[in-house]
Amino acid sequence: MADEYSTCGERLGTRALIPIHDVRVRMIGAGGGCLSRQLGPTCGRERRSTNHRPRAIVRQMPLVNLAEYEVRAREIAEGSTLDYYDGGSNDEITLRENVAAFGRITLYPRAFRGVGERDTRTAILGMPASTPIIVAPVALIGMLHPDGEIPVVRAASKAGSIVTLSTFSVTPIEDVVAAAVGPVWFQLYVYKDRAASEALVQRVEAAGCTALELTADAPILGRRERDVRNNFALPADLWAPNLTADGTLPLPESHGGGGSPFADAFDMLVDQNLTWDDIAWLTSVSNLPVLVKGILRADDARRAIDAGAAGVIVSNHGGRQFDTAPAAIDALRPIADAVGDRGAVIVDGGIRRGADVVKAIAMGAGAVQIGRPIVWGLAVDGEKGVADVLGLLREELDLAMALAGCRSISEITSDLLSPD
Ligand SMILES: Cc1cc2nc3c(=O)[nH]c(=O)nc-3n(C[C@H](O)[C@H](O)[C@H](O)COP(=O)(O)O)c2cc1C
Repeated sequence: MADEYSTCGERLGTRALIPIHDVRVRMIGAGGGCLSRQLGPTCGRERRSTNHRPRAIVRQMPLVNLAEYEVRAREIAEGSTLDYYDGGSNDEITLRENVAAFGRITLYPRAFRGVGERDTRTAILGMPASTPIIVAPVALIGMLHPDGEIPVVRAASKAGSIVTLSTFSVTPIEDVVAAAVGPVWFQLYVYKDRAASEALVQRVEAAGCTALELTADAPILGRRERDVRNNFALPADLWAPNLTADGTLPLPESHGGGGSPFADAFDMLVDQNLTWDDIAWLTSVSNLPVLVKGILRADDARRAIDAGAAGVIVSNHGGRQFDTAPAAIDALRPIADAVGDRGAVIVDGGIRRGADVVKAIAMGAGAVQIGRPIVWGLAVDGEKGVADVLGLLREELDLAMALAGCRSISEITSDLLSPD
């Protein structure tokens, strides 16, 4: 079917009205600096309308899976912008492996299990969720939309999903939590200045976040060569209102072509000399459960739990940090065995299908996280796009459960991988 386009803002087809906000097309890209809005400490408290002039492209072809969302996002957003979100480090071997590894796993479906009624609900750290699918922290995802991270949290929490806010987000935590109807978690780095870290944790707790994800795989940022090639740079006036407790710290001016737009902020803030004792420090100053994110080894998972963590997130940062690290799903099983029932085990990286969620749970995860698919949904259609992405994945999960012979999440067990 031929695609039909319209820029008149009216819905012409039956599906897929795709608003494009000038802000996301123009805001970043080679050289950066064309974002006219100022994201100060008050950003997000009122709707930013400066250069938000939606127009529309209407296409009749519905998007039927997450990969098609990626393709559509690439048609809409500037190439270097999508490259920032989609890219991985160095040769992107780990990035590709994250997806490819799921394709190598086969499941042995059970027959005649009476699957007419199915239930995708679960609980993660005691928090109920409609599915075991959590929204991963994605730095600066809010730059794709004039309302920052609000559409993401609205769509995710309305869908019954837990959503995690990155330290490098553009909307104040308080506004994000106020817009949510479900749990919001916060992703954290430990700073050289411990007092600043402690104050930020207090702010996060006061805002109403219900768990912390402490990122362990990024003492220094990986080198994302797409960004170097594209001379990708952030707008000079960008603020990150959740980096510190008072929210007044601007991102240092980024060095276009230097690799990562966050490198300067990282150098300035993040402690590169962390040891496991520091995890114990964090758990001692916070009342929130701490999940250590970026674990790929069973011995590290044990250390995290011994240090007081409530669980671990098996992750290679979506292939953006240490290239040639294993696919996250390949690292999961020994870690799940090591943690046992002492803590939560979550995995992220490359989850693109409902069957991938089933595979992860069969291998011992209690839940999964998705990063880039949320980016694509937001780029394609704002809150609705994110809702559609989560809805598609939930439908696929439900279908995969039916076809695998599972009526509930608890019936997704390891025998699906290797039956007797
Ligand atoms: C653009 C982008 C930014 C990210 N920013 C963060 C971050 O700020 N903190 C963090 O711990 N992980 C971050 N991640 C990693 C994600 O939380 C998650 O581990 C990863 O995206 C999962 O892989 P997937 O994108 O294939 O689903 C980021 C990932 C992407 C793609």
